Amino acid sequence: MAEDSEQLNRLYLPDAHHLNTMIWGMAGSGKSVFIDHTLKQFLKQNKDKHLRVVIVAPKNEDYEWGNISHSLEQLSLSISMNRVSVLYPSMANIEGIVDDAINMVFEYQAKNKKSSFIFILDDSQVFLSSRKDGSDSHKRLALTGRSRKIKGIYVAHNITFNRSLEGQIDLLVGFSSVNPIYYRASIERFGYDPEPFAADLMEKPYSFVWFDTRNKEPVLQEPLAL
Ligand SMILES: Nc1ncnc2c1ncn2[C@@H]1O[C@H](COP(=O)(O)OP(=O)(O)O)[C@@H](O)[C@H]1O
Ligand SMILES: [Mg+2]
Repeated sequence: MAEDSEQLNRLYLPDAHHLNTMIWGMAGSGKSVFIDHTLKQFLKQNKDKHLRVVIVAPKNEDYEWGNISHSLEQLSLSISMNRVSVLYPSMANIEGIVDDAINMVFEYQAKNKKSSFIFILDDSQVFLSSRKDGSDSHKRLALTGRSRKIKGIYVAHNITFNRSLEGQIDLLVGFSSVNPIYYRASIERFGYDPEPFAADLMEKPYSFVWFDTRNKEPVLQEPLAL
């Protein structure tokens, strides 16, 4: 299901209409592999030469098929030249680096009106705390990205990760998680109860639940065949 063209668009297409996407699950549950696989398929079907992808990967691993940058200067150059840019940020001042990367994307989009962005924030729990308010840059991305064709793909260990940003998410893709303390918050914020799926997800590694907040019908999915 996550591999048909409609679903790929639903996940990634910055269409100025849908909100942001959230991919959640514990470490090793299959999130990065899911993105790797589905993003490549999406990019094959999408022929827009002005489309750009920026992937922030705090663990400095994965997505090695993209153009890897280790600094904001490299990232800026990469965005102007390549379709897929990957930032491996240093852990020192990672929050500031991610903020600057967000602002850089907004500036590029303002100068290149035909451009659109898929902005993937992998392991975002590293720089986004559920207890703190999001930075101005994160609010800018979450709240105003859609109108600028900048789509945020948030990836985190838990379904709730930052209160000020969660209201701007309309698609949830949930992998296995052993942490039930957020289930209640999930019901309150998204109308989604992860509990009935927890055992199934645990039993079959890399399976996931697709939950579109617009129809509120969770669908259990088979693991992607790699
Ligand atoms: N659909 C899948 N089929 C087979 N193996 C998978 C699949 N998804 C993930 N894996 C395996 O699990 C490992 C961890 O997956 P990963 O996506 O890196 O987890 P996460 O990003 O959630 O921490 C991968 O390195 C891969 O070996
Ligand atoms: Mg990962």
